[in-house]
This record gives sequence, structure tokens and C-alpha cells, in this order.
Amino acid sequence: MKYSGVVLAAGKGVRMKSDLPKVVHKVAGKPMVVYVVEALKGAGIDDITVVVGHKREMVEEVLKPFGVKFALQEEQMGTGHALLQAKDKVDMESNLVVLAGDTPLLEADTIKNLISFHTEGGATATVLSTALDEPYGYGRIVRDENANLLKIVEEKDASPEEKKIREINSGIYCFKAKEVFDTLLKLNTSNAQGEYYLTDVFAILREEGRTVKVLKAENSEEIYGINDKIQLSYAEKIMRQRKNKRLMQEGVIIVDPDSTFIDGQVKIGRDTVIMPWTFIEGETVIGKRCEIGPLTRITSSRIGNDVVVENSRIKEAEIKDKCIIGPFAYLRPGTVLNEEVKIGDFVEVKKSIIGKKSKIPHLSYVGDALLGEEVNIGAGTITCNYDGVNKHQTIIEDKAFIGSNTNLVAPVRIGENAVTGAGSTITRDVPADALAVERAEQRLVKGWSKRKNKKE
Ligand code: UD1
Ligand code: CA
Repeated sequence: MKYSGVVLAAGKGVRMKSDLPKVVHKVAGKPMVVYVVEALKGAGIDDITVVVGHKREMVEEVLKPFGVKFALQEEQMGTGHALLQAKDKVDMESNLVVLAGDTPLLEADTIKNLISFHTEGGATATVLSTALDEPYGYGRIVRDENANLLKIVEEKDASPEEKKIREINSGIYCFKAKEVFDTLLKLNTSNAQGEYYLTDVFAILREEGRTVKVLKAENSEEIYGINDKIQLSYAEKIMRQRKNKRLMQEGVIIVDPDSTFIDGQVKIGRDTVIMPWTFIEGETVIGKRCEIGPLTRITSSRIGNDVVVENSRIKEAEIKDKCIIGPFAYLRPGTVLNEEVKIGDFVEVKKSIIGKKSKIPHLSYVGDALLGEEVNIGAGTITCNYDGVNKHQTIIEDKAFIGSNTNLVAPVRIGENAVTGAGSTITRDVPADALAVERAEQRLVKGWSKRKNKKE
């Protein structure tokens, strides 16, 4: 049997009070509509059409990598009208799943259940429902005396009796494609909002003697629709809980899930410990047995095994096994730390490759540099890489020892085993094994303090 999907995402999302269209707002680092498309794909549906309208470019942009089709709804005249715009893109022989772009918590398994319930029951139209304690705002499922679906009534059109119904329309449906598109042509706008309601197809199909069904979902959290930024934060929380739970099931130790914020795509190896107030974002991959946090933010970086990071910021960096970082380190894009490197407190590294077992323990800036193995950088060392116009490279070869408070004025090369004297400003290359001292001789004024005190 063939399956297809349509995602309704043309609306403004007025209640978001935003310049962005609602469905591109991110939950745990990913736009809402992307979750919906991924859930469809996860359920085995590859033929997907997204109905766009308001700020369509932005919606199309975030969906670029997913190979979906787009249908345009110029004017937002209701969900029924929105679906109708996708008519030319949908295979009329397929079973069609329709849902909204603002339900990021929906999981693929629920879509699968809906599809099998629909096809096994030989239904023309099936709606996914759930019972809510506070059904306000949702369309209600109205059943007849035999508990069969009679109609779906919107909050604004509901009678006081109907408003008491707690079973609501999730806005997630499965249809026989041809039948639903034929029925959409029969919709009218005689309702409280003057819109073409997709929900009205159920009553029409029933009157025509077709089989319409309701699948009641147990987990109402999944169908939660995001209409404002309070609901957005709620979805964010649930998504993060899900991610943390999955990681813990895979063997990661999360000391306090409530203060740990990990994006969906992040991968972490077993027995790694994540301590509180830690943010791990983007496409970050972390190995086994690491200790990350507390108070750490890592974005789109690769971290090996047995790495320790405390109270630091790491962005687009690569860190190999057994490195020790922080507290208060700032590793910027293009940083590569080879095995067993130590980066200590108040050290900033940018676009530099640091060789195995090298150490930058305190108060340094290393940018555009290439460090060999077992290099030691003294406290307060600065690579002066920028002359105001161009950036230049500093090369420090194996086992070199850079004295405290050295300025390395790039381009400059420090040879293997070479040493720079503390406080030097090194402007020329230093050959291997040499000592370079570039500072004024110390001057001594004997008895100076005694004379000074006498005058006072
Ligand atoms: C809809 C359902 C309601 C259900 C609820 C579940 C209708 C009439 N009502 O109400 O029964 O309980 O979802 O969340 O369908 N859209 C368009 N074009 C339009 C109008 C809407 O693309 O002209 C899109 C929106 O961008 C959104 C989705 O359709 O993604 C749902 O629209 P929304 O206005 O949020 O519908 P609800 O009032 O929530
Ligand atoms: Ca909605």
C-alpha cells in the first residue's frame, strides 16, 4: 500500500508574537516542523508535501535537506482549504496522513499505529484523539449513542454541552487520499470563524455512509500543539527530558537531568558523566568515560574518550582522548587538541593545533598556532597573531618551553627544545635548543629605599 503525508504549515501563528513563522521556532535546537517531517519519515512515509504560506521562504529553508514537496496556500482560509492546495502533489491512490507543523512531540510509532488502525479498519477517514483534563481551545470529538464518531466540533462552534466533552481532536488524521480531496470540495464556511474546516469532512463522509474512525491515544503529551511561547517552553522541557532519558538508557550518567540541556542530535558514549548546568548543542559527539561540567557549554564539537571539561566554553573544536580542560577555558572554532593536552584556567585557543601532551595551563591566548608535542606554555603567554590587517601563524616545535608572559609576535617559529625567557617579546625565529631572551637588562640602584625613606 502507498502512503503519503501532508503537513499544514501556512499559518502565521499569531499567538507566538514573533517575526518568525511559528513552525520554524526551535525546540531543543531543531525547528518544530523538522520534527514533524522526521516523524513522518520515521513512520515510513517519504512522499511528503508541506503546505506553506506565511513567510514560506523561511519554512522552505529549514526543510531543504529533507526532500519534501511544497504547496502554496496564498491566503489562510482554514485547514480544509490548506489541505486542498496540496491536491496536485499527492498520490490519489495513497493513504494520506495529515498533520500540523506545530506538534513537535509526536513520535513515529504513533503515526504507525494510526496508519495500521486506519487500514485494518477499512476506514475512509481516521482521526487521532485523546482525553484532556483541560480541553479548552481544541476541537471536540462528538460521538453518537453507539460511540461512533458523529462529528468534530470546534471550540468556537460548540454548544455548552459539547464544550464539556474531554475527548479532543489532535489534528492528526489518516485518509484515503482520493476520497478526502473529493470531500474537501463540499466544505463550506458557515461556522464561527468563516473558514473551511478540514474537520468537517468527517461528518460529511459519515453522512455519505463511509467508515470514519477514531483512534484514542493514551499519551496526550505527544499531540500537544504549540501555539505560544509558554507552550514552546513546555515542549522544550519534554524534548530535553526525552533526550536525557535516552542517553541514560544508553549508559550516560546525568547527575541532574533538570539542569542538563542536550540537543537531539548529540551523541555521548557510555559512562560519561554530565554534571549540572551543562549545555551540549548541535552535532556534538562525546566519547566514553568523560567528565563534562559543571557549568559547561559545548557546541558542535568532537570530544574523545576520558576527557575532563570543567566550567568551560567549547565551540567547533576537536578534542582527542585524555585531554583536561578548564576551569574557565574558551576553545574556539578550529581548535584541535591532540591526546593528553592540558588547557587550564583563563586560556583561550582559536584555530590552533596543539600536539600531544602539550600544556597551556594558565592565562594565555593561543591563536593561529601550530604546537608540537610536549610543548609547555608559561602563564600569560600571548600569540600576537594579528597586525591589524592580517593574521599570522606561530609555530612552536616539540618540547619547546615558553617562559611566562612571553609575547610571540607572528609570524614566528620556535624550534625544538628551544626556550624563551620569561617576559620576552619574541619577534624573530628561535632555532632548536637555543634560549631567546628579549628584554631589558635588570638595573640595580643600591640603597635606594633607605635614601627614599630619609627624605620623607
Ligand atoms: C485545529 C483543528 C482542531 C484541533 C486542533 C489540534 C480545524 C478546523 N481545527 O485547530 O479541531 O483540535 O487543530 O491542534 O482544523 N493552517 C494552514 N492554513 C490555514 C489554517 C491553518 O496551513 O488556513 C495550518 C496552521 O499553520 C497549523 C495547522 O494548520 O499548523 C492548524 O491550524 P490552527 O489554526 O493551529 O488550528 P487550531 O485552531 O489549533
Ligand atoms: Ca494549533
